[in-house]
Amino acid sequence: MNIDKQKYFKELPQSYWIASTPKTNYPTLNEDINVDVAIVGGGLAGISCAYLLKKEGLKVAVLEAGHIAKGTTGHTTAKLTSQHELIYSKLINQMGGELAQQYADANETAIHEIKRIAEDNNIDCDYTIQAAIAYTQQNEYIQKISDEVKAASSLGIKASYIEDIPFPIPIKAAIRFDNQAQFHPLKYLLALSKTIPNNDCHIFEQTRAVDIEEGDNYIITTAQGKKVTAKKVIIASHYPFYNKHGMYFTRIYPERSYIVAIRAKEKYPGGMYINTEDPARSLRHQQTENGELILVVGDSHKTGQGIDTVKHYEALIDFARDVFTVEDIPYRWSTQDCMTLDGIPYIGHYTSNTPNLYIATGFQKWGMTNSMVSAMLLRDLIVKGKSSWQDVYNPSRQTILASAKSFVVENFNVAEQLIDGKLDSPPEDIDIRPGEGKVLKINGKRAGAYMDEEGKLHIVNTTCTHMGCELNWNSAERSWDCPCHGSRFSYEGKIIEGPASQPLSMANDVNTIEKLFKDDY
Ligand code: FES
Repeated sequence: MNIDKQKYFKELPQSYWIASTPKTNYPTLNEDINVDVAIVGGGLAGISCAYLLKKEGLKVAVLEAGHIAKGTTGHTTAKLTSQHELIYSKLINQMGGELAQQYADANETAIHEIKRIAEDNNIDCDYTIQAAIAYTQQNEYIQKISDEVKAASSLGIKASYIEDIPFPIPIKAAIRFDNQAQFHPLKYLLALSKTIPNNDCHIFEQTRAVDIEEGDNYIITTAQGKKVTAKKVIIASHYPFYNKHGMYFTRIYPERSYIVAIRAKEKYPGGMYINTEDPARSLRHQQTENGELILVVGDSHKTGQGIDTVKHYEALIDFARDVFTVEDIPYRWSTQDCMTLDGIPYIGHYTSNTPNLYIATGFQKWGMTNSMVSAMLLRDLIVKGKSSWQDVYNPSRQTILASAKSFVVENFNVAEQLIDGKLDSPPEDIDIRPGEGKVLKINGKRAGAYMDEEGKLHIVNTTCTHMGCELNWNSAERSWDCPCHGSRFSYEGKIIEGPASQPLSMANDVNTIEKLFKDDY
């Protein structure tokens, strides 16, 4: 299959999960309400929390800034696995066997809990049992894979060492976990979400939380100025927007990864595959009404760092062609993951001093099981006061200190981006073509311009509304991306993802540019 790249990349990316499920239309909050638990974020973590807490008899409200399941959940690979690359030997070495056991138990339980919930609610979500295989093409990883088989097996996971995979990829060794699964995340979550609204429980869409007031109860203010009073609050909004506690913006960094969904001449042999080295390459398949899709995933990088993002899709297409006879590429999309300093999510109390404020974030690239873990863990903390997995996921864990080096490196990187953006001397020209985005210097000010296919110019102030870093253009997704904490904005300045809670200011054309910098004029 030959691709006319100019034509192919002219179309905006589209996730198969979103394209194959209906749009949602939950109401926007238009009055003040009172609930037991307010949950900020309507992805897999937030909706699963709402489901489990409602089952415990609590009144819950999910506040979603956009539409539920359209963020990370709508752009995932949707693997349900406890095989998170080679994590168990590392966990045992760095945190000890007890905490490694908690992580293994939590994720293995999550795989089967999603199946149980789907069955309880008669949800057909294409859930199928699959093996998960991590392979290496490098000699230096052979011993690591062998160590990982021992580590995972010692924690009760069905892990084995194998030397072949059914693809024309020359490998040195691989680890196989049995009894893992895959599913269609939106078929699952959209059906589950329907069980929430009634009996004083709610889902609100286009209801962005912009502030939290603390007192005997929490009071969340929405972008429309409505108030949600709650005894307890869970922040499950991917990158946390609430900066008063926890300094999360210094210990989470966002990464983007890419997915192309291909149709191939060969039948996919089953299983979910990932390599152990960089650049990441991962494979799974999905049955659809129009035949089998193979998802080819990888090529991650820090958000906002690198403007030519089309090249990541091209790299995946090249890899797909090496492995399969590619007949069509009907979908491509990208996703964003929150990475933590020690590779373990932050799930639990927001800080050790906030007993009624909770967080679920930093799922690395393993958000499906870790979202379900969040729901079970936070349900247990809220209802019973403790969870058997709370220590390994504790957001205030001491082992974070062991990651001090990454902490410094990450923050140095953010500072570097902040300063770099400001010192940038963007070109004076406004030579721009349809479909192109650029940073320009207009009237001496840095501004971002995108020209749409009709030739209309969209100009934004490129200073991120979160903490002031300078945004960069993302050519593949046609968005303005922040290199510091990963906020993303459309070319019309609207928030695609936080932590920013305010849109970018805009000007209609170069003549109204002063509108962008009203504080300076
Ligand atoms: Fe924090 Fe942009 S996301 S400064």
